[in-house]
Amino acid sequence: MTETLIRGRTLAFLREPLEAGDGAAYDYVEDGAVLMRDGKIVDTGAYGDVRAKAGPDVAEIDHRPHLVLPGFIDAHLHFPQMQVIASYGAELLDWLDNYTFPEETKFRDSQHGRRIARLFLDEVIRHGTTTVAAYCSVHKASAEAFFEESHARDMLNIAGKVMMDRNAPAALTDTPPSGYDDSKALIAEWHGRGRQLYAITPRFAITSSPEQMEMAGALVAEHPDCHMQTHLSENLAEIEWTAELYPQAKDYTDVYAHYGLLGPKSLFGHCIHLSEREADAMSETGSVAVFCPTSNLFLGSGLFDYQRYRSRAKPLRIAAATDVGGGTNYSMLRTMDEGYKVIALNGRKLNPLASFWQITRGNAEALSIADRVGTLEAGSDADLVVIDASATPAMRLRMETVETLSEELFLLQTLGDDRAVKEVYIAGRAAKSRMDS
Ligand code: GUN
Ligand code: ZN
Repeated sequence: MTETLIRGRTLAFLREPLEAGDGAAYDYVEDGAVLMRDGKIVDTGAYGDVRAKAGPDVAEIDHRPHLVLPGFIDAHLHFPQMQVIASYGAELLDWLDNYTFPEETKFRDSQHGRRIARLFLDEVIRHGTTTVAAYCSVHKASAEAFFEESHARDMLNIAGKVMMDRNAPAALTDTPPSGYDDSKALIAEWHGRGRQLYAITPRFAITSSPEQMEMAGALVAEHPDCHMQTHLSENLAEIEWTAELYPQAKDYTDVYAHYGLLGPKSLFGHCIHLSEREADAMSETGSVAVFCPTSNLFLGSGLFDYQRYRSRAKPLRIAAATDVGGGTNYSMLRTMDEGYKVIALNGRKLNPLASFWQITRGNAEALSIADRVGTLEAGSDADLVVIDASATPAMRLRMETVETLSEELFLLQTLGDDRAVKEVYIAGRAAKSRMDS
């Protein structure tokens, strides 16, 4: 039995904060502690109380005066796109053709897949992220590489082999039966093994034929405990082409509805240009819209109307994500900084408490894994991030004027990045310092 006691300023959310001063939405303990045993949290609270429950051999790590939160969760990204980030000057469809598809072709080489999976998971951990929902490439071996690396680190990650059988280079396509068989084999091998979870992953309606969409629907029906992830309504040219490819559909969302792909475990990247009818369909099925602000700005895709989606009569479940490599940063802090600006351009604000709720418990709820991660509750998996709002000279100077927790969080979001991440614990074990040493 290995026991570790983490001491610091603990912060965890109990529900979505409704306004900047919503003190009942979170638990904050100035001299707090988290007791971890065998990869799980066994107690959280005031240091003295938690210390009293620890055994005599407990290893104690003092992170004061830093904040200790549940690890950040990233609800949408593409691990094969590490070398696509910073590709200049294109909107979505050209960006896919000119940069992304050629890059993903390299993943037919399983050595390359393993190398990038390793570097990728190191990078997200360095940025304080302990769980991701990841797209792999079309190659089964890319998903195997990702899961092997993830399992070796004992991370709770969700991932899937992309299914795509048209409108892409021949070297990057599967077929409806091979996409189905490979996904099925990966589910059998990896879904529920250790902390690994599988997401059925038709890339988007443009790159899957109706036959493949039907196969994706069959997989979802056969594996209701798996996630489903795809892209929806990101870019105007994409929406127009989708309408041409699926002339019978009422709209883009209806394409996915027709194949049985909407539902509470379905994650739809982007959802920028949804009509009211589409937003209603998303809401009624409990489907999740994934907000990817750095990507949406970088590719010029549009402004996700977060507050409209949250406050409408039929609200949407929302997650937040980097969308690496359309997204330009691995950091959920940088992501929410850009998210704040996107929301500001829509004439609204996202308060800092709501931001940090979103990237911890909010994303855990959106991914239906809040019983395991996203909180500091006893029984949860021990995935934590330790953050320092004085990590750089400019942050330290600005911290001199900070008086409240909300102000500190907003400073972290506005100026923070991986330098603010002092330590990361995955299943109770230090993961960032181990990497740096
Ligand atoms: N739509 C289909 N594939 C992709 C992708 O890889 N990135 C983004 N941003 N949108 C997509
Ligand atoms: Zn994406």
